[in-house]
Amino acid sequence: MQKAKAAFAATVFLASGALAQTPPAPNGIAFPKDYKDWKVLAVSQRADSNTMRVIVGNDVAVAAARAGKTNPWPEGAVLGKVVWKPAKDPLWAPATVPGDVVHIEFMEKNSKRFAMTGNWGYSRWRGAKLEPHGKDAGFAQECAGCHNAAQSQDFVFTRPAALP
Ligand code: HEC
Repeated sequence: MQKAKAAFAATVFLASGALAQTPPAPNGIAFPKDYKDWKVLAVSQRADSNTMRVIVGNDVAVAAARAGKTNPWPEGAVLGKVVWKPAKDPLWAPATVPGDVVHIEFMEKNSKRFAMTGNWGYSRWRGAKLEPHGKDAGFAQECAGCHNAAQSQDFVFTRPAALP
């Protein structure tokens, strides 16, 4: 019985290993590849880094945003942000459209697991190749440090955009 269990566990491990194309962040957070199906909460652009962004949320986050209950955000909420360099629309020069992907990053609310960083778990993958950002789990301190500026909004800068 034990042996069978171990063999089963090994099989599951191998199978999931073969499927896992994107390595986890150094703090153990897995890349949430279903983020492509999440809904839009807002967009932003940053003059300091010359980038454009879309901010998306998982079901928990979107429900909270639609209900206006985002301070604090509920447990299980995950916010994602995709960052692109701006590019000119080849068919219409005055239009700016997303160019190369700079990075994709996430913050997930889990007060048990991430109490050290304001109850949010941070993760980032760089470029189109989705390389995990950070040498070790300590990278999240830098994220949390800057997000402290949004402490009055539960460490989240984004205010969901009006969707009349
Ligand atoms: C120097 C400041 C700074 C650092 C460092 C920083 N962020 Fe942010 N972050 C911001 C600002 C400002 C915004 C809102 C504007 C925007 O959309 O970029 C933001 C937005 C976000 C959002 C969308 C939700 C929100 O708060 O608006 C996520 C997710 C996010 N950051 C993740 C991260 C992760 C992960 C790291 C670390 C790897 C990180 N950030 C590091 C300043 C920072």
